[in-house]
Amino acid sequence: MAPSIFFLFCTWIVCLILLPTSFVDSLCRPDESFSLMEFKQSFRIDRTEWLCDYPKVESWSLDGHGDCCSWDGVKCDEATGHVTGLDLNGSCLVDAQLSGPIPSSLGNLTRLVRLYLSSNNLQGEIPNSLWELKDLEILDLSGNNLSGTVDLHRLENLEELYLDFNNISFVSGIEMNTMLSKLFYLSLESCNLQEFPKILGHLRGLERIYLSHNKIGGRIPTWMGNGSRESLWYVDLSHNILTSFVDNRINILLPNLTYLDISSNLLKTELPTPPPSVSYYNISNNILFGDIQSICGAKSLVTLDLSSNSLNGTIPSCLKNIHSLEILDLGKNKLDGSIP
Ligand SMILES: *[C@@H]1O[C@H](CO)[C@@H](O)[C@H](O)[C@H]1NC(C)=O
Ligand SMILES: *[C@@H]1O[C@H](CO)[C@@H](O)[C@H](O)[C@H]1NC(C)=O
Ligand SMILES: *[C@@H]1O[C@H](CO)[C@@H](O)[C@H](O)[C@H]1NC(C)=O
Ligand SMILES: *[C@@H]1O[C@H](CO)[C@@H](O)[C@H](O)[C@H]1NC(C)=O
Ligand SMILES: *[C@@H]1O[C@H](CO)[C@@H](O)[C@H](O)[C@H]1NC(C)=O
Ligand SMILES: *[C@@H]1O[C@H](CO)[C@@H](O)[C@H](O)[C@H]1NC(C)=O
Ligand SMILES: *[C@@H]1O[C@H](CO)[C@@H](O)[C@H](O)[C@H]1NC(C)=O
Ligand SMILES: *[C@@H]1O[C@H](CO)[C@@H](O)[C@H](O)[C@H]1NC(C)=O
Repeated sequence: MAPSIFFLFCTWIVCLILLPTSFVDSLCRPDESFSLMEFKQSFRIDRTEWLCDYPKVESWSLDGHGDCCSWDGVKCDEATGHVTGLDLNGSCLVDAQLSGPIPSSLGNLTRLVRLYLSSNNLQGEIPNSLWELKDLEILDLSGNNLSGTVDLHRLENLEELYLDFNNISFVSGIEMNTMLSKLFYLSLESCNLQEFPKILGHLRGLERIYLSHNKIGGRIPTWMGNGSRESLWYVDLSHNILTSFVDNRINILLPNLTYLDISSNLLKTELPTPPPSVSYYNISNNILFGDIQSICGAKSLVTLDLSSNSLNGTIPSCLKNIHSLEILDLGKNKLDGSIP
């Protein structure tokens, strides 16, 4: 009796010692662990970098020891062990000036769902292998100094894309034969864009688009809301060099549009009436002329900023019928009369 209990006890201890480590060791897949180590080696840590929060990769072991799924900033699928998340926002990563900026081996993490690399100091071209990660749902490369061409046509699961503060362009729409139906949040501020990304015509459920502080000129195209007519409600085109609308109207016929910021452009037209659903309308700091009667058609306005234009005529009394109005700025124009 006694020896068998002792034996049982021993096996149990052995199991206790062996099980957790072997279980943990097997969670991270060796090839993915290798890719992460390669990734770490491509950078140096610079704590003086102003966007530096703290360097998560510092704790990653370079010999692949331990379970990469437990490394700071790494998330894995519990069942398959595939790396699904990499959160390295503000991780003080600076290009080691070896080969590429983001190593293309990152593409080996084929099951990545969330990738956050914002606010580092990554430079150079975005590797094409990133555009092959078809499980990606959230991609955040904002606040770096990356360049290159963005090609989303394989990323059919993409929901949120943040590329602000980089220098990028998009592949032309002709090369896109798919519609991306899940992308609802597209943030492209200060990307040095010279034109409206054609991708906009290929999105089916876009809700918010941020395009401010680019160098987009000319007319606002009619196809902007082609696929996302019903869903698009937030449009920020401020701080560009837009000059007009097709037919002098806000031709983006978006029945759900609530937020429209086209301030600080070079719009030289009469005041366009926003769709009746709009509650935030900022078209200040343009070259608008003529009277502002057309604003009477907007019934849901809460914030209206028409300041710093060349609008003239009398302030219409209809303003008092827009009961929702809370913030009104008509300053720096040539308007007469008083606010009713
Ligand atoms: C990463 O930073 C972005 C802003 O740059 C933020 O929206 C996002 O939530 C951050 N992600 C995580 C996981 O902290
Ligand atoms: C990782 O990716 C690189 C470049 O894309 C490739 O050459 C290499 O064979 C891949 N490694 C593994 C382990 O899959
Ligand atoms: C961004 O990269 C360009 C070259 O690609 C370089 O000239 C510029 O100095 C970089 N800017 C910053 C803020 O690092
Ligand atoms: C942005 O990228 C383009 C090429 O992709 C390059 O010609 C241009 O000099 C870059 N601008 C800056 C400010 O780095
Ligand atoms: C937008 O839709 C119109 C017709 O509704 C079509 O002629 C045009 O090619 C579309 N444009 C894009 C960029 O998808
Ligand atoms: C309309 O916009 C609201 C936000 O204002 C959003 O919650 C809703 O989903 C949008 N409607 C459609 C049909 O997408
Ligand atoms: C309108 O946009 C300008 C920048 O273009 C900004 O300074 C101003 O505060 C905005 N107005 C409102 C009421 O938000
Ligand atoms: C407003 O300005 C236009 C030219 O931009 C001019 O034709 C018109 O007479 C002006 N209206 C008033 C009431 O001053």
